[in-house]
Amino acid sequence: MALCHTLVLSFFVFIFPTVARLVNVTIDDFNPAIQYAPAGNNQWTARTQDCDSCTTAPDVTQVYNHTWHDATYDFYIKEQSAPETLAIRFNGTAIYAYGILSTLASQTADMYMFIDDFYNPVANFKFNGSDPDGSGSYIYNALLYSNTSLPPGEHSFLLQNGQGGGGLTSLILFDYLIYTT
Ligand SMILES: *[C@@H]1O[C@H](CO)[C@@H](O)[C@H](O)[C@H]1NC(C)=O
Ligand SMILES: *[C@@H]1O[C@H](CO)[C@@H](O)[C@H](O)[C@H]1NC(C)=O
Ligand SMILES: *[C@@H]1O[C@H](CO)[C@@H](O)[C@H](O)[C@H]1NC(C)=O
Ligand SMILES: *[C@@H]1O[C@H](CO)[C@@H](O)[C@H](O)[C@H]1NC(C)=O
Ligand SMILES: *[C@@H]1O[C@H](CO)[C@@H](O)[C@H](O)[C@H]1NC(C)=O
Repeated sequence: MALCHTLVLSFFVFIFPTVARLVNVTIDDFNPAIQYAPAGNNQWTARTQDCDSCTTAPDVTQVYNHTWHDATYDFYIKEQSAPETLAIRFNGTAIYAYGILSTLASQTADMYMFIDDFYNPVANFKFNGSDPDGSGSYIYNALLYSNTSLPPGEHSFLLQNGQGGGGLTSLILFDYLIYTT
């Protein structure tokens, strides 16, 4: 019995603290750690309440912290022809980005993900506006990107909405991201 207790104790005292404990940090779209671009031309709209007059009007109560940022890339509309980006620097080994998808007709998405190198995307997220699981007009907490194999240390993550210089029209409703540190 005594030996058993000693073993249990030494496990917690000497082993447990040396095991890296991973923690998830959730970053709301309103967190100032996230940088949105292009700045100043109103391509991004920060939302804090239902917008019944909007074409895309998710239910704010189903959205993390009741906020999201939306933007549309459309090469053929001057004010929307530059791809929008959001970026964050973080220390960690994994990142997950979440948004809301609209299954209203013709609202497609075409997003490009960058890690550390902002010239070569590591992933492309496409959505064709269909409603695969019949969940209604919006899919909340939709995973836009995840990377669980980052080397420990500081990383930059950038999400670009739209290809640029052409490509699909892309609607982004960005809600939050999580990183593991
Ligand atoms: C962090 O969140 C992701 C996505 O929900 C989950 O898969 C992962 O297990 C979580 N990691 C930790 C350390 O809680
Ligand atoms: C939630 O959103 C508000 C803006 O509506 C912002 O001021 C606040 O910092 C956000 N909370 C978190 C936890 O990010
Ligand atoms: C990452 O960690 C390093 C070392 O602790 C620190 O200097 C740096 O500011 C951190 N970066 C971010 C984005 O938090
Ligand atoms: C849209 O994507 C879904 C799921 O990937 C697929 O099942 C469906 O056939 C696609 N619809 C069109 C019109 O491309
Ligand atoms: C994750 O990021 C690394 C860069 O550290 C990249 O090489 C890899 O392709 C990325 N994986 C995914 C699934 O994007």
